[in-house]
Amino acid sequence: MCGIIGIASNKSVTANIIQSLKRLEYRGYDSAGIATIVNGNIDEKKCTGRVDNLEKILFKNPSNGFLGIGHVRWATHGAASQINAHPHSSEEVSVVHNGIIENSDELKKNLEKKGYKFKSQTDTEVITFLLTDFLKDFNLINAINKTLEKLNGSFALGIIFKKYNDIVVGARRGSPLAVGYGPEENYLGSDSYALKSMTNKITYLDDGDVCILTNNKVEFYNSKNKKVNKEILMLSDDKNIAEKGDYKDFMSKEINEQNITAKTCIKEYVDQLRKEINLYNFPVKPEEIKKIVLIGCGTAYHSCIAAKYWFEEFTNISIEIDVASEFRYRKIKFHKKNLYVFVSQSGETADTLAALDLCKKNNMKTCSIVNVVESSIARSSDFVLPIHAGPEIGVASTKAFIGQMLVLYILSIKISEIRKDINKAEYTKKINELKNLPDLIKKTLKFQDKIQVIAKDFLKAKGAIFLGRGLSFPIALEGALKLKELSYLHAEGYPAGEMKHGPLALIEEGLPVVILAPKDRYYEKTISNMQEVIARGGKVILITNEYNNVISENVRSTLKIPNTDDHLTPFLMTVPLQLLAYHVASLKNCNIDKPRNLAKSVTVE
Ligand code: M6R
Repeated sequence: MCGIIGIASNKSVTANIIQSLKRLEYRGYDSAGIATIVNGNIDEKKCTGRVDNLEKILFKNPSNGFLGIGHVRWATHGAASQINAHPHSSEEVSVVHNGIIENSDELKKNLEKKGYKFKSQTDTEVITFLLTDFLKDFNLINAINKTLEKLNGSFALGIIFKKYNDIVVGARRGSPLAVGYGPEENYLGSDSYALKSMTNKITYLDDGDVCILTNNKVEFYNSKNKKVNKEILMLSDDKNIAEKGDYKDFMSKEINEQNITAKTCIKEYVDQLRKEINLYNFPVKPEEIKKIVLIGCGTAYHSCIAAKYWFEEFTNISIEIDVASEFRYRKIKFHKKNLYVFVSQSGETADTLAALDLCKKNNMKTCSIVNVVESSIARSSDFVLPIHAGPEIGVASTKAFIGQMLVLYILSIKISEIRKDINKAEYTKKINELKNLPDLIKKTLKFQDKIQVIAKDFLKAKGAIFLGRGLSFPIALEGALKLKELSYLHAEGYPAGEMKHGPLALIEEGLPVVILAPKDRYYEKTISNMQEVIARGGKVILITNEYNNVISENVRSTLKIPNTDDHLTPFLMTVPLQLLAYHVASLKNCNIDKPRNLAKSVTVE
């Protein structure tokens, strides 16, 4: 959460800081700020809301230092106000921070006793005053180390100093931080995406590292305060991929390109000529795997639920799924023959990363399924399976969900084939079926117009319910998550069979209920649950297959997705639900790409 940029240059850095902050807005957009050194003093400017507001302030009152730091905030400690926006500056230092300082209350009390006056409610301001205090008695590097020693919790920091006015300092513990190298300038960023518009030469800081940047030099110190050399990576050049083109927003672009996402992903993993899946060198022998544990958060977690059904169907391996924020604190019984799989679009989600670290500390074999291959989760795991979806900018995850499910699906059939849990003929059939998936996904995009009409029913509703059984259950959860995060409408996803155990009490005249009932082995049961909803006045939107003619008269609307193998149906069920959330949110004039209170990359607990 939150985004950091820092630049040390031999020319004004303001324009590049603003440009990078705009790229970083996917990490937080409650408030924004910048600090540079102008005429030997720290010049701090900040505002609530978007980077555009900051740009307007700078237009009226330019701040043209040759080095500076910038920040976009996703509020944790203290409201989203101008005072709480970063940077937090004293006369001597200015700090931007991602993460949480857990002992900030105690540190604040001690600093107040020394006479420091706090302006904000943030945990970050303690860092500013600790540094200011230590700089009275210590040189730069010792003052930094003394400050970092005092901090509990996680952080990525960007710091500038009045006295040392040619350097930007970065420090990392827990939260990611990267350094970029440019022509006569160097950069600090909370992720490589922030830096990619300026450079593709990147170094990632490890936990405990400190870096000192000038315009022509970068020095790194490790957690033992030893000067170290670090590897420079050349990133792929995808500067222009994340453009909206003719789309109104990134989300509609990302929904509409899901057939391409699927095509690319399938091409990467499936050799249609040899009828083979190109997955080798697993960290554990698939034949020896005792259990697979799938871990993720939010949408990524929903893809893990879908995967549980596939793995259970195709293999004899026992499968567990867990939300990362629970897994990381449970008393887990680790076993060396288990495989731990971490699913994350960003690859930076703090809870997922912590769950991965826990597995690594216990010497477990880990595999990650990520969209960002340079991410912390990818770099920390034994085996990486990229989803190849390209940058996903909309906060609500759409094409990444399709990519995550697809990689998990492909992994499940490959593992089952190696273990001989399915025979060669079934394996080849599954590979053949994948060939048609991108076109089938494309067909579901044609529901746009119909869904725009259906969306109107949700405008006055108190909430909505999404029901499904089997593989449609995780899709019901995902449909509900999309609707709530985009349109702020209360929505619940349930296994259809659970309704009678409580949630049925919510059904009243006119409540929209989306029923996912493909013609699979659960069909009759789900339709019975649908009738129970209709009998109580629920307004049913039924999503089923094309060959299904048994449709109840009392269903408000029916969408028929193309016929395909039951195991691939979840991919086709997903798209209409994304479109539904999109159109309800559009009708309510919600900010589609940046829903309130959320951020794209959740790098705090
Ligand atoms: O980057 P990750 O996939 O690890 O993110 C996990 C969740 O934060 C994310 O899927 C979130 O639930 C999305 N906003 C849902 O659309």
